[in-house]
Amino acid sequence: MEDQWQRAYDFAVEVARKAGEEIRKAGEREIRVMTKSSTVDLVTKTDERVEKIIIGSLTDEFGEGTHCFIGEESVAKGEPCILTDKPTWIIDPVDGTTNFVHGFPFVAVSIAFAVNKQLEFGVVYSCLEDKMYKARKGKGAFCNDQQIQVSDVKDIHKSIIISEHGTDRSPEKVTKTFSTMQKILCIPVHGLRGSGTAATNMCLVATGAVEAFFEIGIHCWDIAAGAVIVQEAGGILLDVDGGPLDLMSRRMVSANNETIAKRIIKEIEIFPVGS
Ligand code: IPD
Ligand code: CA
Repeated sequence: MEDQWQRAYDFAVEVARKAGEEIRKAGEREIRVMTKSSTVDLVTKTDERVEKIIIGSLTDEFGEGTHCFIGEESVAKGEPCILTDKPTWIIDPVDGTTNFVHGFPFVAVSIAFAVNKQLEFGVVYSCLEDKMYKARKGKGAFCNDQQIQVSDVKDIHKSIIISEHGTDRSPEKVTKTFSTMQKILCIPVHGLRGSGTAATNMCLVATGAVEAFFEIGIHCWDIAAGAVIVQEAGGILLDVDGGPLDLMSRRMVSANNETIAKRIIKEIEIFPVGS
């Protein structure tokens, strides 16, 4: 059958670019900051406005009621976060809101599309760097139209690993997060990093700049687009317990290969997160 989602893929790239331009312009003005689940879980009017622009553009293009949406800010306002078999857009309008607020230069628009719960394509626009990452199932991963590939490092001692702290600062969780990082650092690895956006972190795995990124506490909108990009760049996605990735489980390991993924998983101290 013809690649029936190609038009949607191309349109998603256009929409992500338009959203990124809005974010760049908004960053030049004063940013009013609000909070969501905790005092460090930030949101701005830009997050909300850009999500409306994205969902509005997709609805205008594909027609009212034809597609479902899971958008971070719509879910924050009470919309359900349930992935069904219907064609569904999974959207993070501003991934890296804390970076956006502070002027730390990594902020991404993340747009993924799933059908029958399978991801068809993902687009991540790292808008301050002007890097457009995209991948369509079975068709490779690209950054600004250049094909990208994960690194071929298999020796964990020669790796750089990314993790993040997320927005839950409960002492038990922070202790486990730092204990995991300490154990990985002391393997030893070449370094630990974190860009402050899960979507960008996954693209860094996809380009081979780092070997792996893992996090407990992320949401489907942080990782859905990046998941296609990592996979199409030759990488691997797993749950933090070594099983298959469940997009809705709020935990993930993405890596260049299974050897690196499994070595990291050995060190991860798992803790529960809410749904
Ligand atoms: C956050 C970023 C961050 C990750 C958090 C996410 P947001 O997304 O992706 O890197 O550590 O778990 O919530 O809130 O900036 O869209
Ligand atoms: Ca966000």
